[in-house]
Amino acid sequence: MNTELLVERLKQLGWSYTADQPDGLLEDSSKNNVSYSEFLYTLLSKEIEYKEAIELEKRIKKSRLPYVKTIHDFDFSFQPSLDQKRINEALTGRYIHHGENIILLGPPGVGKTYLAISMAFEALTQGHTALFITANDFISECRKANKEGLIQRIIKRYCRPDILIMDEIGYFSFDELSAPTLFQIISKRYEQGAMILTSNKSYVEWGKIFGDDVLATAMLDRIVHHSTTFNIKGDSYRLREKKKAGLQPANIR
Ligand SMILES: Nc1ncnc2c1ncn2[C@@H]1O[C@H](COP(=O)(O)OP(=O)(O)OP(=O)(O)O)[C@@H](O)[C@H]1O
Ligand SMILES: [Mg+2]
Repeated sequence: MNTELLVERLKQLGWSYTADQPDGLLEDSSKNNVSYSEFLYTLLSKEIEYKEAIELEKRIKKSRLPYVKTIHDFDFSFQPSLDQKRINEALTGRYIHHGENIILLGPPGVGKTYLAISMAFEALTQGHTALFITANDFISECRKANKEGLIQRIIKRYCRPDILIMDEIGYFSFDELSAPTLFQIISKRYEQGAMILTSNKSYVEWGKIFGDDVLATAMLDRIVHHSTTFNIKGDSYRLREKKKAGLQPANIR
């Protein structure tokens, strides 16, 4: 049969993977003498895998993850305070279905961002949507949106995804605009939408970050109610090589 007609039909269906290589697929199956049902199954599976890969790519792009890294390359032996079983539990994504939160606390370089990204990536592969932002970028976005009278749009944007990932809470102070805006987002997401938060500050110091103890307590109350906290106590992975070479942090420029 004329493959052009076949390709036309496939394109009408939106089966672009099969439409791009009908000859190869037909040749393979006639060479290997596969049954009609097997052929159809292979064709449908390839088309579905292709579509899923495209959808995943779109979700990754929309998530604004600064980079993609999977948990497979994470060196757990370097961070013995981390319970790998609890990390694996988080990677199953169960917390997302229950609108729960993951909080990663610890000093610089211990892998908070890496872990947050690998958890987000795992969730994206499971079909969830995610949105990543650093606390500092959030503060800037709020200022910009406020000037344009669009603060409600910020609240909507950060309430929409299945998971909100806010990285680096604690390196910069929230101001009187970004603190209540984040509070509103956290309130709306409470028990509805999961969050992954990372911070270099322990909970007792959050009052300072938000410039308001009452607000910080109310925020933490909602965040921590259904959550898993990973308190990472260890050395910076960034300084690992330098330490190996005998350099101490004080000597590092
Ligand atoms: N256990 C680990 N195994 C492999 N790579 C790691 C590990 N921990 C950290 N890294 C790598 O070290 C670097 C620092 O890690 P990361 O950015 O996650 O630290 P962080 O805790 O977020 O630090 P900061 O508070 O300064 O943002 C990254 O390049 C990360 O990929
Ligand atoms: Mg980080």
